[in-house]
Amino acid sequence: MTIDGAAAPPPVLLSERQIADRVDQLARQISADHASVDELLLIGVLRGAFIFLADLARRLTIPTTIDFMALSHYEHGSAPSGAVRLVMDLRIPIAGRSVLLVEDIVDSGETLSYLRRMLEARGPASLKICALTRKPDRLTADVRVDYVGFDIPDAWVVGYGLDFDNKFRSLPYIGILPPATKS
Ligand code: IMP
Ligand code: MG
Repeated sequence: MTIDGAAAPPPVLLSERQIADRVDQLARQISADHASVDELLLIGVLRGAFIFLADLARRLTIPTTIDFMALSHYEHGSAPSGAVRLVMDLRIPIAGRSVLLVEDIVDSGETLSYLRRMLEARGPASLKICALTRKPDRLTADVRVDYVGFDIPDAWVVGYGLDFDNKFRSLPYIGILPPATKS
């Protein structure tokens, strides 16, 4: 069977079990850190964060609301070019609210640095960032990520929401894109 056009399934980098255990830990830590907050607004960055956000949200033990925003990366193939454009804004105003921005992956950090600046300017009571994965070797932007699931090697990863060419998002684990898949 082929998966999303790949000749073989992407080799596992992070298994379903590893991801689930880490999401549990992150949820416990985030819940504890926000124990005194009336309500935490979770902001998911579409599309890559939708599965992580869904799993994380169901493990948090504090009251939450959820909103989404969508970005476009001016991509050339799979490589983020650094330039980011907002294509769908939040529906909920964030002024005075406690906010957690939920991202799938930090590569150069340009996306999160743009989002942090934009959201800070709207005057939230607090703004924290949670990213499931981060590639430390690729970071160029100076951006603080408050909660990181996994630091991973410099490779293109897919699954658990992450895509290549909009494919592989529904893979239940995070795998490394087989080289033959790249065009
Ligand atoms: P950054 O702005 O360079 O940090 O890029 C972040 C965005 O690029 C992420 O939100 C993803 O949409 C995409 N991205 C970067 N690396 C990967 C990867 O390995 N797999 C899938 N998407 C990625
Ligand atoms: Mg993304």
